Amino acid sequence: MINRIVLAAGVAAFALLGGPATTQAAIELHNTVTGEPLNLDDAGPEGRDTEAFKSFIETGKNPYNNEPNCLANGEQLYLGMCSGCHGHVAEGKIGPGLNDNYWTYPDNNTDKGLFETIFGGASGQMGPMYGAVNPDQMLQIMAWVRHLYKDGVEDAKWLDDAQKANFKPYDGHSHAPKPDPAKTPEACKVSE
Ligand code: HEC
Repeated sequence: MINRIVLAAGVAAFALLGGPATTQAAIELHNTVTGEPLNLDDAGPEGRDTEAFKSFIETGKNPYNNEPNCLANGEQLYLGMCSGCHGHVAEGKIGPGLNDNYWTYPDNNTDKGLFETIFGGASGQMGPMYGAVNPDQMLQIMAWVRHLYKDGVEDAKWLDDAQKANFKPYDGHSHAPKPDPAKTPEACKVSE
């Protein structure tokens, strides 16, 4: 009898704490080169409480890959922060191309891996970017980088089956679609 009460109390406590059936553990982020854990506190407080970032940190998936209204700001941020080294359409310059299916660090073909490289940097000129763009902005840049992808859909690991069915390789020159202000998440509004 006593045992049964203890067991019932245990189950209740487990339910109150939200056991594994109801919550998903946050993903763990590591430096692309050293494997050291990344500390999100290295970034400021901005861009960490958006719906998109909260979802990313639970699932490892970038929700902005499904949000065309965020591409315009992602393009602007990419042109300001990345294109000088990676090229206008990520074709490569002093840094490698990001628009093809070859990755120095193969995990960059997942959203989690790409975020880890942007947040924590890689080697040489590829420094950590958390001082220049906030974590939500990193997700927006990532969606733009994926939009620039020109190679085969079979190597696009970041896409699920439905996204693969709708995939079109980048045409090499067009800009992001004009965002619909009514549907654009606050974090993705293009700054003037
Ligand atoms: C000052 C130049 C510079 C800037 C700015 C820069 N990068 Fe890089 N990036 C590099 C270099 C050089 C490498 C190669 C480093 C290595 O191999 O470890 C690199 C590597 C990368 C990789 C790994 C590619 C692979 O093949 O695995 C990714 C992803 C990347 N950069 C994304 C970005 C993004 C996104 C931005 C903007 C937020 C950015 N970089 C800004 C120079 C830069």
